[in-house]
Amino acid sequence: MTSASLPLAGKHVVLGVSGGIAAYKSVELLRRLMDLGADVTPVLTRSALEFVGAPTFRALSGRDPLVDLFRADEPIPHTKLGQGADLVLVAPATANLLAKFAAGIADDALTTTLVATAAPVVLAAAMHTEMWLHPSVVANVKTIRARGFRVIDPERGRLAGGDVGYGRLAEPDVVIGAVLEELGGAGSTLRGRYVLVTAGGTREPIDPVRYIGNRSSGKQGIAVAQEAARMGATGALVTTVAAPAIPGFELVQVESALEMRDAVMSRLDRLDALVMCAAVADFRPAEVADQKIKRDGGAPEIKLVANPDILAEATAVLRRSKPEAVVVGFAAETIDALRHGEEKLARKRVDMMVVNDVTEEGAGFGTDTNSVWLIARDGSRSRIELAAKREVAAALLDKAFALDREPHA
Ligand code: C5P
Repeated sequence: MTSASLPLAGKHVVLGVSGGIAAYKSVELLRRLMDLGADVTPVLTRSALEFVGAPTFRALSGRDPLVDLFRADEPIPHTKLGQGADLVLVAPATANLLAKFAAGIADDALTTTLVATAAPVVLAAAMHTEMWLHPSVVANVKTIRARGFRVIDPERGRLAGGDVGYGRLAEPDVVIGAVLEELGGAGSTLRGRYVLVTAGGTREPIDPVRYIGNRSSGKQGIAVAQEAARMGATGALVTTVAAPAIPGFELVQVESALEMRDAVMSRLDRLDALVMCAAVADFRPAEVADQKIKRDGGAPEIKLVANPDILAEATAVLRRSKPEAVVVGFAAETIDALRHGEEKLARKRVDMMVVNDVTEEGAGFGTDTNSVWLIARDGSRSRIELAAKREVAAALLDKAFALDREPHA
């Protein structure tokens, strides 16, 4: 990508950092924003400096981070910054920072910039669970949201004190996804949608070094996640193969079907669409040897057991909990592709099956092109002749999201 085609090229982002233990994570956010082409000015509170050093921000952003109002060379940097910003991101936003912003208090460079800007403001909250749940913080967040600013909830996980609860700063992909959405850096057709995509063939362990696998390269799944991101979606790519960073997408690396199932099932409550591109092994070894199986013992007999059907399980949950969610399955067939696709569409209760005959030239495993049938539950069938996997991805996302959202029978 040339720098001009980067999603945040030409955008000026103020990165505010307030004083919480999560402040160190803002360094990663700074790097990500710059990788996406943004011009970033860091603005730190005094207490943020207790957690992170100004030189790190200076070295990465090429700008002096602003901390104090009165020591800066510019007499009124905050108004200039506020006026010139395309977006102000505060990560982490502490309880104190949220309280000040809710009340309109402007007593340092960051809070003054916040009050002086008309740009979109995104605040990624991070604090201890008790603080996040305190009625005053709840009320402040409500006030801030009611004014049209975006507050990203903290996530559940291990906290600084060693205990577990809500309070951790949201993952960088989520925060960056929100920035992209606000700035419309990506397209907008899937803006606000969370798309979960799986990619690659699962690897079912036999022993610590061997596995049973398949020929899926993961290219089609990666292309779906990339296209969804380009259309403005955020989400997760659950993959068994290495994948490039995708703006707004969490990369979840898995190996086996069981790991993939956990990664998918634990994200069902937030998704708007599930695209199961992965080639999930139907069977796995019943037992995994602790040590590498030696040749001297003779050829082992490997007993197989059935893997869970992730797509069927996920769909069953979604039909109850989220009937409007769009579910897309893939079928790689070597014979009678259409008939098998129709049958799977019905059996797995999905909205659409993407069917390819992997014996066709230029289609299926490992290639950069594909030719598929899209079979939808509204009875429509469309054929995509040999095209780049990115184009196939765009077409299937368009069709899947255009489907009539009647509750599933
Ligand atoms: O029945 P078949 O395996 O051909 O169905 C393929 C579809 O089901 C794909 O979308 C694949 O990701 C999904 N699948 C699954 N779990 C399995 C097997 C397949 O989710 N164990």
